[in-house]
Amino acid sequence: MVRVLKLSAVMLWAAVALAASALCAAHTSAAHPVEGQEQKTAAATGGAAAAGAGTHGLTPQERRGKAIYLRGESPSGKEITALIGEVDVPASTLTCGGCHGARGEGKTEGGVTAGNLSWTNLLKSYGHTHPSGRKHGPFDEGLFARALVEGSDPAGNELAVAMPRFKMSAPDLADLIAYLKRIETDRDPGLTETGIKVGTLLPAQGALAETGAAMRDVLAAYFDDLNGKGGIYGRRVELAVAETGPDAAATAASVRLLVEDGQVFAIVGGMSAGADKELAALTQEVEIPFIGPATLLPQTGFQTNRYIFYLLPGMSEQARALFNFSAQRQPLARARVAIVYPEGGMTAAAAADIAELCKKSGCGELRQSTYTVPAVFKDKIFLAFPSVPADVTPAGEAELRALVEKYRFPMRHTAAQLSALAAAKVLVEGLQRGGRDVSREKLVTALEGLYEYETGATPRLTFGPNRRVGASGAYIVGIDPARKDFVAVGDWVKAN
Ligand code: HEC
Repeated sequence: MVRVLKLSAVMLWAAVALAASALCAAHTSAAHPVEGQEQKTAAATGGAAAAGAGTHGLTPQERRGKAIYLRGESPSGKEITALIGEVDVPASTLTCGGCHGARGEGKTEGGVTAGNLSWTNLLKSYGHTHPSGRKHGPFDEGLFARALVEGSDPAGNELAVAMPRFKMSAPDLADLIAYLKRIETDRDPGLTETGIKVGTLLPAQGALAETGAAMRDVLAAYFDDLNGKGGIYGRRVELAVAETGPDAAATAASVRLLVEDGQVFAIVGGMSAGADKELAALTQEVEIPFIGPATLLPQTGFQTNRYIFYLLPGMSEQARALFNFSAQRQPLARARVAIVYPEGGMTAAAAADIAELCKKSGCGELRQSTYTVPAVFKDKIFLAFPSVPADVTPAGEAELRALVEKYRFPMRHTAAQLSALAAAKVLVEGLQRGGRDVSREKLVTALEGLYEYETGATPRLTFGPNRRVGASGAYIVGIDPARKDFVAVGDWVKAN
């Protein structure tokens, strides 16, 4: 069944019109040209952005220790292993934080108590008497190392098998100790008993200023409404806004200021304004979650960045979905494939990505060239869209309308407003799942657990430790030249 789709703002907005023709008429020399044109999203405009860096937070050594404590990751690159019974496993599967609590507070599970690991507690002059009756004097660094490696406490008592025996390098051990000395006061910024401060990044000047204002209206209204309903575990959400700068460096500096001086807990929605690489690096460095920046270039390279969650697919994911779509229509080994794209960085990168995929999948013949006029391909052209109007459910639309009515702001740049709403909802879902005792770490883990989450304004979103784009794929849409309209040719096609 063919469904005709009307082009709407949603498509135009974040839409990447990467087009791929499938089969040529004669079927003898099948070609799969891929044509691309991109729509400008976040051209950075105006906006003051003083570079400035407070020195809140952890030292590099403490930060490395935290990675060991919470994730069993060794920043020094040496493997850390945990021996449980007779089995050696990577420490990433048995983390200190998992048993002793994300803040070292100690935890009892199944009748077994893994005690408080704050350094002050470990060094208490009178030592510990444990629920099991085990008694010992204070730890020091050497005794702590012995507990980890040999599994015995300062009095020489053997620790229960529930406590794994660890193997880690001396520098890793030093980092871990440095963090345990700090763990008690390591509170994520922006989080108090009664409030949670979040930031967003919006253009305030130039051509995109109005879009920025439209998104801001939604975010402010959404959080105010939420606060009226009691907030999140009694915490009120406070919104701080950073402006995009005239270039990527200025935008990144503006966000750094927001994070370090503004002390926000997480960043939500807004636009990446061409500073994708810089923002990805910053979130990684500061370890701050960033949920739903609107961009065509999600940074999903080799090294996964745990802190960014992109809602919609970018150029690369859409190009991959187009490729998969073509491959479904004709076996690649018999196909002659042409990747055709306009000159320019964004599409060139996506084209290179497809070429690589093509080689790996054993394409018959591969050609690449740049191209500008798609007209000759007419009904052989297929377009990829990150989202279609049908993604906006009646509930999603009603939610936006209710905010518009209650807060009396104009409904404009609807697609941008819906993307802001979606980002805010994903953040709040993550905060709720993170629990009363939420931390940045817990928020990230909660978001990585989202599966087919329905925002009402985007395709369903699924994240995971290695999946940073919630809707990773594209809608493939054909063109009906006679009716000058788009025609749906299939459902959602995955990028992988
Ligand atoms: C699988 C769960 C588990 C993991 C993972 C784990 N522990 Fe433990 N740990 C325990 C339990 C249970 C005890 C208590 C053992 C006992 O009472 O005999 C314990 C005891 C200890 C003790 C002794 C405390 C005392 O007062 O005697 C230290 C120190 C310790 N753990 C440090 C760590 C560190 C550091 C890590 C990470 C590198 C870690 N543990 C990972 C479960 C765990």
